[in-house]
Amino acid sequence: MTVITSIDDLKALYAKRVPKVFYDYCETGSWSEQTFHDNERDWDEIRFRQRVAVDMTNRSTASTIIGQDVAMPVALSPVGLAGMQHADGEIHAARAAGKFGVPFTLSTMSICSIEDVAENTDKPFWFQLYVMRDKGFLRDIIERAKAARCSALVLTLDLQLLGQRHKDIKNGLGAPPKLTLRNIIDMATKVRWGLGMLGTKRRFFGNIVGHVKGVDDPSDLIAWTHQQFDPTLDWDDVEEIREMWGGPLILKGILDVEDARRAAQSGADALIVSNHGGRQLDGAISSARALPDILDAVGDQIEVHVDGGIRSGQDVLRALALGAKAAWIGRPWIYGLGAMGEAGVTKALEILQKELDMTMALCGRRRIGEIDRDIILVPKGFRGEWEEPTAG
Ligand code: GLV
Repeated sequence: MTVITSIDDLKALYAKRVPKVFYDYCETGSWSEQTFHDNERDWDEIRFRQRVAVDMTNRSTASTIIGQDVAMPVALSPVGLAGMQHADGEIHAARAAGKFGVPFTLSTMSICSIEDVAENTDKPFWFQLYVMRDKGFLRDIIERAKAARCSALVLTLDLQLLGQRHKDIKNGLGAPPKLTLRNIIDMATKVRWGLGMLGTKRRFFGNIVGHVKGVDDPSDLIAWTHQQFDPTLDWDDVEEIREMWGGPLILKGILDVEDARRAAQSGADALIVSNHGGRQLDGAISSARALPDILDAVGDQIEVHVDGGIRSGQDVLRALALGAKAAWIGRPWIYGLGAMGEAGVTKALEILQKELDMTMALCGRRRIGEIDRDIILVPKGFRGEWEEPTAG
């Protein structure tokens, strides 16, 4: 058995253990996947300044996110269908995150329902909201998240319609997936995964089935999303949702300075600079490149977080050094989950924390609060190499 020392090791094991239809769902961007690839690559362009002869004792990665204590400034992004990557996946991941001391965010499109995760974990988690056309569902799900004592609401703003991902269409993605011959043969070879799935009843969209009016066939994720997600969502709805929820609110999917300014005025507690992991607007800039301008525009008015392409503790540090208060991870925790369930998510978090801690130390910093732009070298043209859009 290979010793797992990196997120890449977890990804390799994940690829072996999980059916292709779900691996592809995780490992895809929309259309040409330009933004999906840029997200990872652009973090790599930022280099560190090595500092020496600095006292490195008493180090800590502890911090806060929206005022909540965390073991490191990393949060688990909402990921749909996690319970298809591993049986009872959302429960496994929420437990791992809770024990580690970082927030877990449950997706609206999860397999385990809000109530199920709450009953099977002992730490509060966060809930991610997609706004559906059915306003009864919206009110209900907010009440359900309150009843489950979710300690923040993450409102996703960049998915009123679903970006096209070629592989998902070809694979017949859904929960459960379409039983094409290729899917059946592939799933039959993933024995560990299959036994887990046979042993659980959680195989459908737990938050949705039985709760949304007019659900024809939620197993067809793509058709269903187009049918149910609300294309009219606007800033007035954000305000209404903030009032309905009444607790800590995080806005996810901000990539433009103008939108960031609007988000900063909305009364939300934080925004996440994000292009949805390159899964929505293909050709949009990477979140690493979008971050500095957004921080300069609103960093003193609202907590600014970032996700997209974070694959190591070094990337977490790059994000923090640019000025983000937290880095969010999606695919890294899914690799861990698919590879080894709860233990795999814990492993992913341990790897990231170790990398973050050691890289901080080698840059001469011992605390998260000491991290600043001084520890990084950002190549010329990293930001601002684009022409300013002309007004009107
Ligand atoms: C939904 O959030 C997706 O990216 O598939």
